[in-house]
Amino acid sequence: MPDLTSDLFSHASTQNIKAEMRQLAAEIERHNTLYHTQDAPEISDAEYDALFRKLQQLEEQHPELADKNSPTQKVGGQRQGAFGSGKHRAPMRSLGNAFAEEDVTDFLDRITSFLRLEKTPEIIIEPKIDGVSLSLTYQNGKLVRALTRGDGETGEDVTANVRTIANIPQQLRRGQFTSDGFPDDIEIRGEVYITQADFEKLNNAQAAAGDKVFANPRNAAAGSLRQLDTAITAARPLRFLAYSLPPVPSFTLLTETTVLLFLHEAGFETPAIEKAANRAELLGIHNSWKTQRYTRVPYAIDGLVYKVDDRTLQNRLGELARTPRWAIAHKFPPEQATTVLEGIDIQVGRSGKITPVAKLKPVHVGGVTVSNATLHNEDYIEQRDIRINDTVFIERAGDVIPKVVSVVLDKRPAGSKKFIFPHECPACRTRLMRLEGEADWRCPNVAACPAQRQAFLEHFVSRGALDIDGLGEKQLAEFVGLGWVRTAADIFRLGQHREQLQTLEGYGEKSVSNLLAAIEKAKNPTLPRFIIALGIPNVGEATANDLARHFKTWQAFSAALAQPDAAEVLTNIEGIGPVVAQSIISHASEPHTKALISDLMDAGIDIQASAVQPRRTGYFSDKTVVLTGSLSALSRDEAKARLLQQGARVTNSVTAKTDYLIVGAEPGSKLKQAVKLGVAVLEEDKFLEFLG
Ligand code: IVH
Repeated sequence: MPDLTSDLFSHASTQNIKAEMRQLAAEIERHNTLYHTQDAPEISDAEYDALFRKLQQLEEQHPELADKNSPTQKVGGQRQGAFGSGKHRAPMRSLGNAFAEEDVTDFLDRITSFLRLEKTPEIIIEPKIDGVSLSLTYQNGKLVRALTRGDGETGEDVTANVRTIANIPQQLRRGQFTSDGFPDDIEIRGEVYITQADFEKLNNAQAAAGDKVFANPRNAAAGSLRQLDTAITAARPLRFLAYSLPPVPSFTLLTETTVLLFLHEAGFETPAIEKAANRAELLGIHNSWKTQRYTRVPYAIDGLVYKVDDRTLQNRLGELARTPRWAIAHKFPPEQATTVLEGIDIQVGRSGKITPVAKLKPVHVGGVTVSNATLHNEDYIEQRDIRINDTVFIERAGDVIPKVVSVVLDKRPAGSKKFIFPHECPACRTRLMRLEGEADWRCPNVAACPAQRQAFLEHFVSRGALDIDGLGEKQLAEFVGLGWVRTAADIFRLGQHREQLQTLEGYGEKSVSNLLAAIEKAKNPTLPRFIIALGIPNVGEATANDLARHFKTWQAFSAALAQPDAAEVLTNIEGIGPVVAQSIISHASEPHTKALISDLMDAGIDIQASAVQPRRTGYFSDKTVVLTGSLSALSRDEAKARLLQQGARVTNSVTAKTDYLIVGAEPGSKLKQAVKLGVAVLEEDKFLEFLG
């Protein structure tokens, strides 16, 4: 008898797989609409990518079950119908994604063997701007039409709105590639984006006006571009960056590099590029961008794009349905996710600042599990109408504390209530205060609030401050509980409790000796560390170093603060502005601070004088230098390090105190400022020459 069970079984599992694929496809289509048409995503890009990959994998494993209308075969989303439409000259494709290093290896192997080359062809690397793709048509150098990507074949006609974007030329500029005139019809593609700084400003303004808050700069750019009222688009801080020029027979450019040169001289902003000859170089460049993704460019990027530089090879490699074979996007680890806000805790900071903290259903973001995120302050919660049990977008950008960005309103459970911000301190029940014009509530019980004391003690012993090994949250709470530590100065008197310490759980003779030795060592802090340990609002490591360099000794510093001209003296120090100066002066004048400092001195603290900076030689020694634009020979970090080695001060903004502005490619407003103030400007070659 034939064995029917395995057939039956495989029939059933085929049904299951098919159902799963259908469900995934429907889910992806739904998110496509939310993302592309409504600019109101319910899941993060990474969560979307995961669904997409799952469907792709199932289709690869079961090609016979794959639907030819699957979302994996399409680009983008449906059009809304509010705008006119236009057909793209050539389909606007998407890019394949590489997440792991092996995906990059596969990509390189694939192109190299496809082309039957001995080694990898040269790859050009660009940042992958997280914006909205746009296609611009220029006829005889004049902008005539702008289309969104739409479904890849047909896009929405947003010409009127695009004409309001200031850095899109209405008329192309002539240059070396167009000495014989402009091609009669070319298409230029790129990304509409909003810088990170403009995005935050826009979101704050939207929130304050009770308008929609965007989950990320991409949604904000998409929403702004597709306004029916052109005046609204015009008021949004949209920018455009050009990165591609689909081939035109009458206007041949041989490499992507020359395409970017042409676009740049025609008047477009273009991306910074790098080149790589092999896998190791690509991965090295990816790594270095990953750590600089927030500092190197002002816009959000979610990865790098690798393109075969040679356009003849690109043409040979050709395209797949959705994506070209000659390019790939190598993504960075995701930094946004959605999760459920399970509760809101109120945290009391070391100087009484109250911060609402979101308690989240734990979620994986960029390799760590996040279960807490900041909600900043009362207005932030109120304006974004963030409620307990809401599904929220959270973001963990680099080393920054995770924050709640926005709410997925469609997922709000019925009957949810607004969060009522407390009016008394959760630790000491003192009535909270909020000064006119300030965003934060404070607990005014500076001298006795146990939560403030605990937070201050933790800060005082932390790595960046006095760095006392063996003392942390738990130990401090225990010693406070035992009555041994009331102020930070009591830490230096813990030796009086040596015998009792040895009887505590988890301590032995050796660990007590180690702890007391670490405390003893902390009695001789350097000046900047001591300044940091004081926990002055707005004073971090950089400011503490500036102060220490200027005053050299604690005595000189504290004496200066007692003088009537303290504010003037402080603001004359490079890097210190009026807000920080005021913060330092008022902190120093508080009775609580004075008591603490005299207590610390009594306990035997002896602050080291700052070593006199060795005189350094070099062209830039003792000069104040600002860098702008991208240098081709050095990274920004290396240029800065080399300047510092010579004893230069490297600052961020051009002022009358600046000695030199070093300009690389695409300098920004700093160059204008330097010219206005008559600051000496050095171009890269001169800079390298002087640097030696
Ligand atoms: S090239 C045929 N270069 O990423 C591929 N795209 O995920 C043409 N993007 O649709 C695209 N930065 O909207 C290219 N430097 C860059 C990019 C870039 C961002 C966007 C673009 C594309 C999407 C694919």
